[in-house]
Amino acid sequence: MNKRSWAEPYKIKAVEHLRMTTRDERERAIREAGYNTFLLRSDDVYIDLLTDSGTSAMSDRQWAAMMIGDESYAGSRNFYTLEDAVRRHYGYKHLIPTHQGRGAEHLLSQLCISDGDFVPGNMYFTTTRHHQEAAGGAFVDVVIDEAHDPESEHPFKGNVDLDKLQGLIDRVGAERVPYLSLETNVNMAGGQPCSMENIRAVGELCHRHGIPVYLDATRAIENAWFIKLREPGFADRSIASILLEICSHTDGCTMSAKKDSLVNIGGFLAVNDDELAERARNMVVVYEGLHTYGGLAGRDMEAMAIGIAESVQESHIRARVGQVEYLGQNLIDAGVPVVRPIGGHGVFIDAAKFLPHIPRERFPAQSLAAALYVDSGVRSMERGGVSAGRDPETGENIFPPLELVRLTIPRRVYTQAHMDVVSESVISLHEAPEQVTGLRMIHEPKHLRFFQARFEPAPAPVEHGTHPRPHAAIGSA
Ligand code: F0G
Repeated sequence: MNKRSWAEPYKIKAVEHLRMTTRDERERAIREAGYNTFLLRSDDVYIDLLTDSGTSAMSDRQWAAMMIGDESYAGSRNFYTLEDAVRRHYGYKHLIPTHQGRGAEHLLSQLCISDGDFVPGNMYFTTTRHHQEAAGGAFVDVVIDEAHDPESEHPFKGNVDLDKLQGLIDRVGAERVPYLSLETNVNMAGGQPCSMENIRAVGELCHRHGIPVYLDATRAIENAWFIKLREPGFADRSIASILLEICSHTDGCTMSAKKDSLVNIGGFLAVNDDELAERARNMVVVYEGLHTYGGLAGRDMEAMAIGIAESVQESHIRARVGQVEYLGQNLIDAGVPVVRPIGGHGVFIDAAKFLPHIPRERFPAQSLAAALYVDSGVRSMERGGVSAGRDPETGENIFPPLELVRLTIPRRVYTQAHMDVVSESVISLHEAPEQVTGLRMIHEPKHLRFFQARFEPAPAPVEHGTHPRPHAAIGSA
């Protein structure tokens, strides 16, 4: 056998101790958290796969760079270092730093969208869509149909369906489409990439109609890795050059640097258009901070510049995606229904299929995330009906085709043994799924409800006359 394993291109210099909990403690903790993993205290969590956002381990070089933070209010040296890094690796002309990705989405949406506009995108992301709607726009999903099918093995499930896009432009007119939002490694589809061929074609189609394309570059480097692996002609190209080519088909990007860029906080808006950049600089001072720090400390910008350079290293991205793949393959081998192919930043369990006895109104993914926590202290995140929220027109719950639990892997944080613990727990729940009970929402915030909604166990879908069974039913194997 000529097996060659991926392995981390680093060794561990400092460790962070974790608190081990008992099942009783976890049952109490999840009850107090209203069965919402967002409301757990992290001290009560063993392996935290809630998100890959801001949870990366920084390198010794990034930590060292914190000491050369220039905390001047205006014109910090670190801003210029970051500007160089963004220009070199993403290729855009103007950089406007923001405290995180949604800060950049806020600026772009407010600056470009008018009441009654339509904003096409390859599947929605929660904060992105929220800002588009808050600015008066309506999000229109133009992702290919395969993205909504967890079992489709399409290698580029993040692709835009060009016919859907053309159909929208024909229907509403190009002047009602302020821009197209193109997400790389589409999060809500399971971390699924777009092909370079599709990105190029989307750029051409939009530009022919005078519509700019703004990239959500949050996980563009993970996307670049899949292009290298899967798209003919890219095998010998560097990740850095693929990234630059992706960006070259677009007019700018919003970025949550808390993901690809290996920092705990930060983001940016980057654009080529001089006038838009000027307007964004005028606006950033109102919401984030001066245009040379945008809500960040100088040291954060320095760490981000180094993180960007580290993130395009092939040895890094191979091990990062390799670890996700390792967990995913463990689950596939055990017959657990997961989104295929395995994505770049996490493994997405098909909760609707995992828990066929729980109807969508009882939130199977939310229920599974709670049960997994009780079983092993592993924290995951619902990405299904709770996250999708309500239709702004009708007020009805949206039940998207994908009802998923996301096991999101922080970068450079956990070991292969941690991944084994996670898969053992998921597999044991999968062997006795009927032990998991559905949930009823008892508190629903108005905006981005998944963050703070509260639930209680509700075994039967009929509302009247039924009393929730005691919570022991959750994961009580
Ligand atoms: N775009 C995408 C694709 C994201 O995944 C996120 C955040 C954002 C924008 C917003 O960036 O958090 O820095 O304001 N995703 C996190 C997650 C929250 O867990 O998937 P932010």
